[in-house]
Amino acid sequence: MVAGIDDIAIYIPRLYLDASDFAEARGLDPVKLQKGLGISQMSIVDSNQDPACLAANACLKIMQKNKLSPEEIGRLYVSTESAFDESKAMNSYVIGMLEQVYGQGAFEHCGGVETKFACVSGSYALYDNANWIRAGESDGKAALVVVSDIAKYDMGSSGEMTQGAGAVVMLLNDSPRLLRFDPKVTSTSIKDEYDFYRPFGKETPIVHGQYSNLLYMIQVRKALEMYKKNVIKTKLIEIEPGETILDHMDYINMHLPYSNMGKKALAYLVRHEWRQLPRWKKIMQEVGMEEPVPKDPRGTIESVLGDEEFMAKDHEFTKIFSKTPEFQEVYESKLSSSLVASTMIGNLYTASLYLGFRSSLEFEFQKGIELSGKRVGFGSYGSGSSAMVFSGVIQPEYKQVVQDMNLESEMGKRRKLTWDEYEKLHENELTPEQSMVHARKEFILVDVKTDIETKGERRYVYNE
Ligand code: CAA
Repeated sequence: MVAGIDDIAIYIPRLYLDASDFAEARGLDPVKLQKGLGISQMSIVDSNQDPACLAANACLKIMQKNKLSPEEIGRLYVSTESAFDESKAMNSYVIGMLEQVYGQGAFEHCGGVETKFACVSGSYALYDNANWIRAGESDGKAALVVVSDIAKYDMGSSGEMTQGAGAVVMLLNDSPRLLRFDPKVTSTSIKDEYDFYRPFGKETPIVHGQYSNLLYMIQVRKALEMYKKNVIKTKLIEIEPGETILDHMDYINMHLPYSNMGKKALAYLVRHEWRQLPRWKKIMQEVGMEEPVPKDPRGTIESVLGDEEFMAKDHEFTKIFSKTPEFQEVYESKLSSSLVASTMIGNLYTASLYLGFRSSLEFEFQKGIELSGKRVGFGSYGSGSSAMVFSGVIQPEYKQVVQDMNLESEMGKRRKLTWDEYEKLHENELTPEQSMVHARKEFILVDVKTDIETKGERRYVYNE
């Protein structure tokens, strides 16, 4: 049976921090953020918002837009790495909020869990729900998979410039208008790692930034190797001599902790794929330098990162390679449109890959390109660490959905934060009643209990 994404909706908090204001306050060159990382604005949550209400707001949008009734939804999964409870799952909060609109008990048939594996868990949730549909267990019902996160780092840390917040919800069913998943090729890699993690009770993660960047690329490449094997085994795609699997992906969406990371990761994958092919000879001539090799033949991440000479040369090689017309063509045609939203919104952890997919659809459609039949590859990564590579094909009915996509109007009117306001929000100095935006037709957080008996209980309302 077929399964895939029928529609996507987003909810982005309306407050944002401007990258130039951030750079000025932190004494950084604004060009580092804008050009070096590809960040213009970072969405920031208000004092009456948490990841559950971002998720519920996204769900409400997709239900209203598609005139769905709760009976049509068989599963609701929430994937996040911003959980605020060690036991109660976030989908339960989301259902509680949705039932304020649809009536108490309206979703009681709707199973689901909260999934966790840093930024990759949404991809596992999509895969599991697609398989629920493929197996015929869904009985004609659809699934909602919501990826919702608040990417928040310590004040003054190197991660602070890669913050953001928002939720993306995907409606999955057996007759998807947007994207049909390719069967039996989804591939994963996994390794016990500490590149980025958030111990119990800590609101912000502990991050080894450059380590996490390198691990991301290595893990996705490993998953891509497995994907290639699966594609050949299932005969999904015929890879001719002189070709790479990437030639057969019309679009490539990468996990985007910041928008330029997508370009870096794409360059890494393309470079490793092309190295084996006849076209590499010409590329090497254009680059004009030998491809550097690490001193330590074991090639562990630690030894590679510790080899400063290699790292500097490799950085130089990548920079020149990324400017070759051949790579530029791949970048412009397959990836660049997916980065637009990330530049304006920032890091969404689990949701960043899917915001990228949503961005790619809107901005490729605007170019007047016919998208039906195009194959989209996804490179998902979660610290800790696991990667997933999978693909799907855009369906003939995609226009029904994509023609109405409008990122700016879906985000709504945004309000720029002053540095003082940002600091207050970051340090949790404001109560829900002191929120900066007056939310309308949205779920908001109104109270988190602090007394011993009910500590941590959250109350939400739908603001008409
Ligand atoms: N003008 C123009 N460009 C500049 C510049 C300037 N003045 N100064 C620096 N740059 C460029 C650098 O050359 C670099 O570009 P390249 O990557 O192309 O070389 C880029 O700006 C970033 O500079 P640095 O690498 O020096 O930045 P940094 O080390 O200070 O911080 C970071 C970058 C490691 C990503 C840090 O922000 C961080 O730790 N972020 C959080 C962790 C993270 O996002 N990891 C990503 C992978 S893990 C993951 O994806 C899970 C997840 O979601 C968190």
